Amino acid sequence: MKVLLTGGAGYIGSHTAVELLENGYDVVIGDNFVNSKPEVLEKIKQITGKNFKFYEADFTKKEDVENIFKTEGDIDVVVHFAGLKAVGESCSIPVSYYRNNIDSTLTLLEMMKQYDCKNLVFSSSATVYGVPKTVPLKEDMPTSCTNPYGWTKLMNEQILTDVAKSNPDLSIVLLRYFNPIGAHASGLIGEDPNGIPNNLMPYITKVAKGVYPNLNVYGNDYPTKDGTGVRDYIHVVDLAKGHLKAIEYSLKHRGVETFNLGTGNGYSVLDIVNTFTAVNHVNVPYQIVERRPGDVAECYADATKANQILHWKAEKNLEDMCKDSWNFVSHQS
Ligand code: NAD
Ligand code: UD1
Repeated sequence: MKVLLTGGAGYIGSHTAVELLENGYDVVIGDNFVNSKPEVLEKIKQITGKNFKFYEADFTKKEDVENIFKTEGDIDVVVHFAGLKAVGESCSIPVSYYRNNIDSTLTLLEMMKQYDCKNLVFSSSATVYGVPKTVPLKEDMPTSCTNPYGWTKLMNEQILTDVAKSNPDLSIVLLRYFNPIGAHASGLIGEDPNGIPNNLMPYITKVAKGVYPNLNVYGNDYPTKDGTGVRDYIHVVDLAKGHLKAIEYSLKHRGVETFNLGTGNGYSVLDIVNTFTAVNHVNVPYQIVERRPGDVAECYADATKANQILHWKAEKNLEDMCKDSWNFVSHQS
């Protein structure tokens, strides 16, 4: 079974590549390294002891994508991770976000049609729930967005739904990820963004490393148990395993289906800080500052549908996520 991972050198894609290789899949990765490094490919080989094909390709470019399909011939499933993902940046350079995140999907769909590939798994996000009126979030709840990045995800969901409707032979699985953190237990792959991180866990690890003096906790006056924001943090390896289940599902079913991939648990910012310091025996000094514009009090999944239909459930707990995040970052130079 041959699976093409667009953006497979990235954070979630690299962990998914490991799970696929360890489960006997034939993996093909395409990436242009706009937000990843070629070294990751060697690390995937080191972890799994297995080889795979790699193409340096921009999925918005027809010739790059055609080259992959032409050379490989028989791709059974595409998992489309490739995309730009920084919310703040998407507000500054929206055209680049729409161009990259929409064009890549359209180009891929054209090539899949041309080369008769019928199965696609798409990386969507909990961001499509906008500002939730109630939690936990279920797949059939209303969607909306607050920023261009989010709109690219929602527009892609719409495009893929329309395409699936137009051709009953197609199978499309839309995966709405909640907040992935953690890293592979080997410490060889993980998330280490360039520049000042926006997301909580990468910022915490930089404070723990001494790169920044303290964490800014964005508000402690939310209507939550300790006043800080609550999210559904999910271990990236659990998330990667969810992709195997989605691939299996896509091969057996036709049409379009949407699944939340989250744990169903909500943890506050202070839960994360306290667990991180306790399990790793490091200090994370913090200060409470103003709320971050656009943040919501609580966002966590109802993960029942993925559990019942995909037979998938997140297995790792918050201690594992905090330990593995630190294991990866503390070994980086
Ligand atoms: P990432 O940035 O680590 O990985 C994305 C990969 O895609 C990178 O390796 C990048 O170089 C590549 N890429 C981007 N545009 C490309 C293009 N045009 N052609 C070829 N390669 C391209 O991000 P990630 O965290 O692994 O996220 C993967 C997907 O999941 C993204 O679509 C993201 O929007 C989505 N997602 C991520 C999160 C999260 O918190 N990490 C949450 C929800 C959804
Ligand atoms: C962000 C994105 C969302 C994306 C998700 C996963 C925004 C507005 N939303 O969600 O689209 O799907 O990441 O990648 O960026 N926090 C601090 N201090 C920090 C950083 C964060 O207190 O330095 C708090 C936030 O206020 C929030 C929680 O930590 O309560 C999680 O924040 P973050 O990791 O940025 O994720 P989200 O905001 O949930």
